[in-house]
Amino acid sequence: MPESGIASTSHEALLSVATEAAKAAGVVLRNYAKTGFRITHKNPINLVTDADHAAEQCVIEHIRERFPSHRILAEERGPDTQPPSRYHWVLDPLDGTTNFAHGYPVYAISIGVECDGRGLIGVVYDPTRDELFTALAGSGARLNEQPIAVSSTKQLDQALLVTGFAYDIRDTPNNNLNHFARFALKAQGLRRSGSAALDLCYVAAGRFDGFWEVKLSPWDMAAGAIILREAGGTVTDFKGEALSIYQPELVASNGLIHEAMLAVLREDPAP
Ligand code: IPD
Ligand code: CA
Ligand code: CA
Repeated sequence: MPESGIASTSHEALLSVATEAAKAAGVVLRNYAKTGFRITHKNPINLVTDADHAAEQCVIEHIRERFPSHRILAEERGPDTQPPSRYHWVLDPLDGTTNFAHGYPVYAISIGVECDGRGLIGVVYDPTRDELFTALAGSGARLNEQPIAVSSTKQLDQALLVTGFAYDIRDTPNNNLNHFARFALKAQGLRRSGSAALDLCYVAAGRFDGFWEVKLSPWDMAAGAIILREAGGTVTDFKGEALSIYQPELVASNGLIHEAMLAVLREDPAP
């Protein structure tokens, strides 16, 4: 039954609609991965497929059916034209499009919900591994219903880090290659997975110790940032100040190596 009143919107209902939407979109992506999809280019290295659009449509329909008055910001469609509402859904229907397009099985659906401008719910679903990361602010983070927590790695030289690069990498010197080179020499290991939402969840689950990017969009971080915080992690901007998902820089860690990561990022500020 659709809910229009604010008072009747329970957190559990939001979490369950976000979870159902993510799982349904996962079925959409799995089907496209099997049967094939059309690729179009936003720029020479920035792809979008018809799977992105179909998964987005699927998530939006789930939200609209239950919460017709909520605002939605979706990557491919952009912001909707709903009047202001306390609840704001911020979603990426396919985080890791380049991986998906190449058949590299590292991608996810990412759905975050803000209430009065604060992150409330995060759901990230990896349809390849059937891994569902969820969090409700104040209630901890879970992977397939089991509580998760960040790692206890204390030193950067024992840390496994992950990062990513924006699609304007060829066009600007502020392309993260400076930070990448420094961290590669200071960390135990460095990875580039191709899905920022999963990178955040993997820090939350203790699989990575830290993650940074210089140019993320709100839909890349909305869900993962909540999941990471609820798993006991720290997420800030490059100055160490509170993260806003509406600004591009993000540093996420287990908390213990956060200062060390910020120090490396300070060594070589944006060109
Ligand atoms: C991208 C991925 C990637 C990150 C890029 C994002 P998309 O999102 O999250 O890991 O490095 O900055 O744009 O385009 O696959 O949804
Ligand atoms: Ca993305
Ligand atoms: Ca995307």
